[in-house]
Amino acid sequence: DPVLRDLATAKGRYYGTAVTTSKLTGTYGAITAAQFNSVTPGNEMKWGSVEPTRGSFNWDGADRLVNFAEANGQKVRGHTLVWHSQMPNWLANGTFSDAELRTIMNEHVTTETTRYKGRIDHWDVVNEPLNEDGTMRASTFYTQLGESYIADAFRSARAADPAAKLYINDYNTDGTGAKSNGMYSLVQRLKAQGVPIDGVGFQGHLILGQLPSTLQANLQRFADLGVDVAITELDIRMTLPATTAQLAQQKDEFKAVTTACLAVTRCKGVTAWGFTDSDSWIPDVFPGQGAATPYDESFQPKPAYYGIAEALGWT
Ligand code: G3I
Repeated sequence: DPVLRDLATAKGRYYGTAVTTSKLTGTYGAITAAQFNSVTPGNEMKWGSVEPTRGSFNWDGADRLVNFAEANGQKVRGHTLVWHSQMPNWLANGTFSDAELRTIMNEHVTTETTRYKGRIDHWDVVNEPLNEDGTMRASTFYTQLGESYIADAFRSARAADPAAKLYINDYNTDGTGAKSNGMYSLVQRLKAQGVPIDGVGFQGHLILGQLPSTLQANLQRFADLGVDVAITELDIRMTLPATTAQLAQQKDEFKAVTTACLAVTRCKGVTAWGFTDSDSWIPDVFPGQGAATPYDESFQPKPAYYGIAEALGWT
């Protein structure tokens, strides 16, 4: 079988996967190590995971992920520092003055980026800041601190770990449209203010048959702003049970996403949001849908896996 990480390296890119760090043994660990040259922890670096009680930290899963990546010569995409979801309960349910909240946020960014200083290639510093119409999402951070929470988070991350590439990341921004336009304007504003932003992540949570035709052009227009871009959470879901025809179409669409990234010089790589259907968020959140990843539940490669390989030059 083709080796995705070697094919990607030959193209000057990475091909990554999100993982559940507690599963990084046996076949799951072996495929992660053999096939991918970047890993993202699906949950273990989120604020709610690392600081479940205020001032009391649990770095076990995050440490394991970073150690695994180093042992296997993989990049790490740190995910994610400031997000409205999966916050610790003490933060989500607490009441803080604006000044306190700003300090808490900046200290969190500093603590986590300092812990892994020099060992993280990309940080998703701010995740999902936008509404579907492209306006700013009314998260606690935005509501209390205004848009400057984003600049603060990036500056704190840069100060603590100057080598890490700092990304903003969102979903439903893959093709052009209102939300993508909102991200484009936001990145323009951040750049104009001298905020240290290096990249824009396009999550790529796609639906079979709805691949945005403007994906490549959209990636290119962001690259033209002077930032790197990446597909950070790719999956392509379908109605179950998956048919042969659906899996063939999914192959074409995984291939097309990879091809679009390769066509944009500043697109650094693609990350699948889980490499196996046994480890995908889709069935839990969209009942009756799934089969969204390149390997089936028994760790057998699906046509999508060969589509990725073909896009990366495998014949
Ligand atoms: O760990 C607990 C377990 O102890 C408990 O028994 C179980 C019961 O429900 O829940 C487990 O936690 C779940 C966790 O995943 C780990 O499996 C949470 O309920 C569940 O909400 C959580 O879902 C994660 C989701 O983010 C939360 O929003 C998914 O795994 C993760 O893949 C998903 O990833 C997000 C990205 O971070 C941002 N972009 C969208 C993407 C998909 O939602």
